Amino acid sequence: MAAVESYPMKGGDGSFSYTKNSTFQKSASSAVQGLICSAITEKFDAMNFLLPITATTPSATATIRLADLGCSVGPNTFTAMQNVMDTIETKAKSLSFKNPQFQVFFNDHAGNDFNTLFTSLPFDRAYFSAGVPGSFYGRLFPDSSLHFIHSSYSLQWLSKEPKELLNKESEAWNGGRIHYTSAPRGVEDAYARQFSEDMELFLGERARELVVGGMMVLIMPCIPDETVAHSQVPAGIMFDLLGASLVDMAEAGVISQEQVDSFNLPIYGVSPMEMQSLVKKNGRFSIERMELTDPTSARKNNEGGSKTTGDDNTIANHLRAGMEGIFSKHFGVEKIDELFDRFSKKTIEFSDKFKSSIKQGTQLFIVLVKKN
Ligand SMILES: C[S@@+](CC[C@H](N)C(=O)[O-])C[C@H]1O[C@@H](n2cnc3c(N)ncnc32)[C@H](O)[C@@H]1O
Repeated sequence: MAAVESYPMKGGDGSFSYTKNSTFQKSASSAVQGLICSAITEKFDAMNFLLPITATTPSATATIRLADLGCSVGPNTFTAMQNVMDTIETKAKSLSFKNPQFQVFFNDHAGNDFNTLFTSLPFDRAYFSAGVPGSFYGRLFPDSSLHFIHSSYSLQWLSKEPKELLNKESEAWNGGRIHYTSAPRGVEDAYARQFSEDMELFLGERARELVVGGMMVLIMPCIPDETVAHSQVPAGIMFDLLGASLVDMAEAGVISQEQVDSFNLPIYGVSPMEMQSLVKKNGRFSIERMELTDPTSARKNNEGGSKTTGDDNTIANHLRAGMEGIFSKHFGVEKIDELFDRFSKKTIEFSDKFKSSIKQGTQLFIVLVKKN
């Protein structure tokens, strides 16, 4: 398969690390925890995957194999996987099945900081664990070896930037911008084509790796529908402001205009209809549930209000933890402090835009089950 570009989250546990700057993804994952529990309770194929307490060999125990794709360095992956295992155990108990053993595979790009992940694995975990390096746009596991796949806030990363964006003759030429937010239609279409190609690979490989009846839960940033412009959702606003910060740096002579013109973020926010048609095209999964959710709802419920308002540098720190790698590779490590400093000031200046942006329905939750 073609090479996949890899820009892992910031490792370690320093002040700009993903470990310390992933509360947005944590809250996004909490917002759908209840939905994951009910999907498992209602649709997980316990009859075929678990063993009854009355199994003839008393020592026989089923093993359930789970994978978290794009797990990063934690701690969100540990919470998400534990939630899945707890729910499967509850289901086993309620149906008088034996408690299974669990094996959890943590997957991310080879460049991910697996050391931090491994050293922070919960010491009291009751599961076997393993790291699986590699791109989820390629093959990761043997045929029919997994019962449950989870992936949260990872599938928005494309395997690469669409190459047409760099062609000045093409209608997808994206000079002066770093994303398709506020760009001509041709640019967005190029991104959509790349997402569609990537999703075809992703679904094809997962269909081979999941057992029949196996479940796949995907959580991804999205736009609620085609009528909502990307510039109205928080992610789009962030990418516009990041682009504007880079243009300011080019005007100040800190970086060159050519560097800005040749950089594009390989990130895409799908719509539910688009995702539905890609799953249907693949044909190997039934869509058991598909719902739009609000990634900030759990935080609002717990703390009486969303914190992602742009009033402080939370947004800049979160974005830096996720994107420092890709920006430093293109613009140079020495430009990163200035970039995120400028960006942080812009998020404060435009905090009203964040406050009035559309948050409800900007997170897609999908439950797929592998068909026969
Ligand atoms: C925003 S983090 C999400 C991490 C975690 N799931 C969470 O919710 O906190 C996205 C992760 O996806 C990983 N990722 C992106 N593209 C990938 C690919 N093609 N294969 C494997 N991992 C990928 C990144 O390296 C990164 O660690």
